[in-house]
Amino acid sequence: MARKFFIGGNWKCNGTLEEVKKIVSMLNEAEIPSENVVGTQILSLSLLISGLHAGCNFIHIVLVSDAVAGIFPLIFDVVSRPFVGCNFVHIVLVSDAVVGIFPFFFAEVVVSPPFVFLPLVESSLRPDFQVAAQNCWVRKGGAFTGEISAEMLVNLGIPCVILGHSERRSLLNESNEFVGDKVAHALSVGLKVIACIGETLQQRESGSTMAVVAAQTKAIADKVSNWANVVLAYEPVWAIGTGKVATPGQAQEVHLELRKWLHDSVGAEVAATTRIIYGGSVNGANCRELAAQPDIDGFLVGGASLKPEFADIIRSLT
Ligand code: G3H
Repeated sequence: MARKFFIGGNWKCNGTLEEVKKIVSMLNEAEIPSENVVGTQILSLSLLISGLHAGCNFIHIVLVSDAVAGIFPLIFDVVSRPFVGCNFVHIVLVSDAVVGIFPFFFAEVVVSPPFVFLPLVESSLRPDFQVAAQNCWVRKGGAFTGEISAEMLVNLGIPCVILGHSERRSLLNESNEFVGDKVAHALSVGLKVIACIGETLQQRESGSTMAVVAAQTKAIADKVSNWANVVLAYEPVWAIGTGKVATPGQAQEVHLELRKWLHDSVGAEVAATTRIIYGGSVNGANCRELAAQPDIDGFLVGGASLKPEFADIIRSLT
């Protein structure tokens, strides 16, 4: 099955109300191909194909869907022929197979503002982008002062949450097991999860990168049986906010090893379908080369997601 490209913007603990409104406006006004635009591109193709067959006015409405089968050129061809000479509306549903042919066109974009701005961003952001929280509590709410429960996010219509970010692991002592429990609880209430893993510089230099990320992933796998709503974000700690991006080769090597780990420890289907995205000093200049790696399925962008550069990153990959 195809893996849809995923581009996340983690705003971390940044922004005033005015700045957040500015970023949202920038994203809303940016000309970024989305699934709707892809529909328009396919529409043009369909008109071209129809033109070849017909020479009459055809209107094709293209609904893009992951779930429904169909390979559009064939469908256009087959559906158009009987109706040559008349006006006709074609509704074409595009499947995972098509998404697989154009993975970048069908990129999923998610931005993650601080909690207090979630409702504002959720209600004012363009509808083809989604919103994620940056954390949530490990179980149902209650007497946990200062925490936000996964159920509250669902109640607010927030579809997604980032969990296990290295800043929380290191500054707030979140253990592998705690992150695994959080991921399991968030999934159980219907959230999608961007689960972060990654090694420190010291761990990389001591040759334990794979052991570290495998242990972090195992703690999640121990608690999770359905990986459909999990995106795994590999973020080497030494590359976060440092301007020192992993080389495409370094990132690909870990992503491939992670996919093998998933294959051997969880299952072939989970390994083939789970998006493994890269985070750590991604910017407009380095994103294309990273994205060209076969096991890099997108990015979690920090600093650059607060700037117009984020739109450039999305644009350059779609
Ligand atoms: O969540 C995002 C990562 O921490 C990457 O941050 O792009 O500022 O290095 P960065």
